[in-house]
Amino acid sequence: MKKSGNVLELKMKRKEVKSSFPKSYSELEKSNFDLTIKTLLSALRLKDDYTWGHSLRVAFFCVAVGKEMNLSSEELFELELSALFHDIGKIGVPDSVLLKPSRLTEEEFQEMKLHPSKSAALLEEIPNFQKISMGAKHHHERFDGRGYPSGLKGEDIPLFARIILIADTFDAMTSTRPYRKGLAYEVAFEELIEFSGSQFDPKLVKHFISAIKKEEIKNSSTFTLNLVQGEFEKEAA
Ligand SMILES: [Fe+2]
Repeated sequence: MKKSGNVLELKMKRKEVKSSFPKSYSELEKSNFDLTIKTLLSALRLKDDYTWGHSLRVAFFCVAVGKEMNLSSEELFELELSALFHDIGKIGVPDSVLLKPSRLTEEEFQEMKLHPSKSAALLEEIPNFQKISMGAKHHHERFDGRGYPSGLKGEDIPLFARIILIADTFDAMTSTRPYRKGLAYEVAFEELIEFSGSQFDPKLVKHFISAIKKEEIKNSSTFTLNLVQGEFEKEAA
């Protein structure tokens, strides 16, 4: 698949990964859980290779930000999954819309805008995924209340959704697509700052930039789940 040079800069050195899977899960639950995650990721990749890679990078950025914010390991685990599957509802968007290389018509755009709710509908079927599902559902809400699907404003928007929106936009800006070259990180940081307070939560933009700039991120394993770490390395290789 097409890679972004920027992500290669962030590629982590392979080393022993310590999983921080919540202790409350039994071994059987863990293996069933891994299988569920793997299957959903494979389905997403079959639908759209770009969205698969994008989702892994968004999860990577989100976990880096979560660590910067000192979120608990339980929260990091949930944030990782929410970010990983924020766009899973795109499976339910027709290829003629999702993969259209040119500008969407108004009708097509309305169809595309249903994907966060579709992501949420799929995720809320999984036990204990309520918070994860809400992060996905609201990842296109704007801080000023002009986003979708619910027009939530400021801190009424779930924290995960506010983080995912920043990571999502950053990845969209910095990824190289067939029709345009990705922006340099520094240029994308400026864009995030410019839209702080309107589109993005200003405090989270600061955390995001400082997390991504940190040298240590380049050399450490980020993900909570070994499986996701492995997929990310596959994507970046
Ligand atoms: Fe999205």
